[in-house]
Amino acid sequence: MQSIHIAASTEYDVIIGSGVLNLLGSKITELGKIQKVMLVSDDTVFGLYGDKISSIIKNEGFDLSCYVFAHGEKSKNLTTYGELLEKMSEFHMTRSDIVVALGGGVVGDLSGFAAATYQRGIRFVQIPTTLLAAVDASVGGKTAVDLNSGKNQVGCFHQPSLVLCDIDTLKTLPIEEYKCGCAEVIKYAMIGSKDFYDELLSKPIVEQYEYVISVCVDMKRQYVLDDEFDNGSRMMLNFGHTFGHAVEQCSGYSVLHGLAVSIGMVIITKSAEKRNICKEGTCEKLLQLLNKYDMPTQTQFTSSELVKPAMIDKKASGKKVNLIVPKEVGECVIMKVDSFELESWIIDGK
Ligand code: NAD
Ligand code: GLY
Repeated sequence: MQSIHIAASTEYDVIIGSGVLNLLGSKITELGKIQKVMLVSDDTVFGLYGDKISSIIKNEGFDLSCYVFAHGEKSKNLTTYGELLEKMSEFHMTRSDIVVALGGGVVGDLSGFAAATYQRGIRFVQIPTTLLAAVDASVGGKTAVDLNSGKNQVGCFHQPSLVLCDIDTLKTLPIEEYKCGCAEVIKYAMIGSKDFYDELLSKPIVEQYEYVISVCVDMKRQYVLDDEFDNGSRMMLNFGHTFGHAVEQCSGYSVLHGLAVSIGMVIITKSAEKRNICKEGTCEKLLQLLNKYDMPTQTQFTSSELVKPAMIDKKASGKKVNLIVPKEVGECVIMKVDSFELESWIIDGK
């Protein structure tokens, strides 16, 4: 078991390991002054782990109510958010009670946003059950729901009070969701550690979950510490995301987020290499690792199709776009690029 302390504006521990769900009851008690717990999950995850988590919470003596919604990104919207808030109100939750988010990033982002805004903010606990949520979404306090115009268009920063990551829950993850998480793990290696890159190449992520998740969370810890509100270095975590989001959006979200990020990482790395920003051979190394995990590395969308969503990506500021550009495996830089130059980056990267 690993425990990583996140010293953000709200401090909390991220506990990672096999069987750590059994700590849930006592850990909630330790948070103090709680009577009621709202367990939030999607239908798939609740079907798998809902009974177990409900029993743990009830056996610890808390009043429990559950809110379960249809799985998938489509549910991360204002309607689901509103329904959850109404349910919290009907359950007469007060500011000392808590929300427990059981699921992937969709559950975590939605529950976190509801917790952040209910009665101007109550505490919440994250129980990530996807690899992507374990290494990224559950840590760092970004909460949001989507609008018709795009993903995460309304949200706020609200740190959880605890993250409990039981790697046993990842055993039921479908292969495509596993791959989505792998893309984010590879992202961490590309932005921060050549040694980690070598480790991911020599041993499959699934065979070293506790270690891999701990390394990623520890790297994220540092970015959150340096730049909790995402005005500078934290943007590094968006490596592969500008063009990845574009692929995702062009596909009408039929290409899953992590798989789109895989393609986005290739586009930006190839382009950086062509422009001599990046050490020769970096893209080949990236492709070697992505191929090992059977990740997609190409898209059929044209540069003119991809550039539109890339330009309205939330990382655009004025006429400039922040691109996260690799220099070599384990090192990236943030470059401000004129938005009219974006298409040429895509052309070079395809
Ligand atoms: P998700 O929450 O939709 O989960 C993916 C699918 O896997 C769902 O169908 C879910 O029901 C299923 N699932 C989850 N856990 C399972 C398990 N253990 N066994 C079997 N099935 C399981 O998607 P995700 O990839 O976890 O998260 C993506 C979301 O996270 C996006 O909305 C994205 O915007 C957000 N995100 C947020 C942050 C952040 O910092 N807050 C970071 C990255 C991504
Ligand atoms: N997922 C990127 C971030 O948390 O900043």
